[in-house]
Amino acid sequence: MIEEIKNLRKEIAGTEITNEETLEAFRLKFLSRKGLIQTMFARMSEVPQEERASVGKAMNEVKQQAEDKFRKGKDSLTQATATQLRATDDITLPVAPAYAGSLHPLTQTVNEMKDIFFRLGFDVAYGPEIEDDFHNFTALNFPPDHPARDMQDTFFVQKSGKENAEDLVMRTHTSPVQIRLMKETTPPIRSIIPGRVFRNEAVTAKSYFQFNQMEGLFVDEKVTMGELIETLVMFAKMMYGEHVKYRVRPSFFPFTEPSIEMDVWWGSDFDGQWLEILGAGMVDPNVFKAVDLDPEKYTGYAFGMGVDRIAMLRYGIDDIRILYENDIRFLNQFTG
Ligand code: PHE
Repeated sequence: MIEEIKNLRKEIAGTEITNEETLEAFRLKFLSRKGLIQTMFARMSEVPQEERASVGKAMNEVKQQAEDKFRKGKDSLTQATATQLRATDDITLPVAPAYAGSLHPLTQTVNEMKDIFFRLGFDVAYGPEIEDDFHNFTALNFPPDHPARDMQDTFFVQKSGKENAEDLVMRTHTSPVQIRLMKETTPPIRSIIPGRVFRNEAVTAKSYFQFNQMEGLFVDEKVTMGELIETLVMFAKMMYGEHVKYRVRPSFFPFTEPSIEMDVWWGSDFDGQWLEILGAGMVDPNVFKAVDLDPEKYTGYAFGMGVDRIAMLRYGIDDIRILYENDIRFLNQFTG
């Protein structure tokens, strides 16, 4: 008897329920009054007294198994029919609009900038957003007491306080990647480095605690300031059109000498203002020394562009915060 029950269990497990007909056939075969399970129960009287308990248990289990299987089969069939079309469904109705995702205006701007620099012979490099003091400041010729290292501007990840131990910072600019590139490769180097940077600044329409830069580095023998300015002017014209109004002014950065800044005119001829879009200059000999390159042999230029500024000028956005709020009404203007 136990053997027969085992076979029945196998048969139940092996029977497939795929539609109304197989469901009904299953019920008739196993669960109906004349079905195999009831027939088995009817033979209980043949079982010797001492085996009744174990045979009874096994029979109850097989009944449970068949009922479970029947219920599951029935449930899945009703679910399947629920998703089928009904006669009243109107298949000619237009579908609900599907909104496609789109590239963020900052990403679109970075992509355009990359395309321009690829045409000018640059490749692209990346670096970490968490930097040590050496790459972010020291190797870039910041004196130990330079105000830019102050808590005011820098987000510290870990401030060691110990002598000779290094602080970890959220990088305040993309320039530390210059150091990484010059340490890892031998010139000629001609790379752009897009990336996110962080500064502990008050949030206003013009400044935010995170923003995006695109660094540029060109190191070779006999690189000149003329080439730097020519490259930047070419960039401005390719980005904003042939008639872009720009100016180049002297400036200061610890890691370039001489240093310049470039402004682009924003607004109409009568009503507008100069907006700074980048800092640049010739790589300072002290920077070459920090990465073990011979300043007598190599020269180079570097620039750091404000991607947010460039995007704001490009699209006529007057508040940087909009770029980071991800308001769908704003983002939807940049599809296609
Ligand atoms: N790193 C500078 C900044 O963040 C920009 C810069 C880059 C200036 C490279 C000169 C050369 O303001």
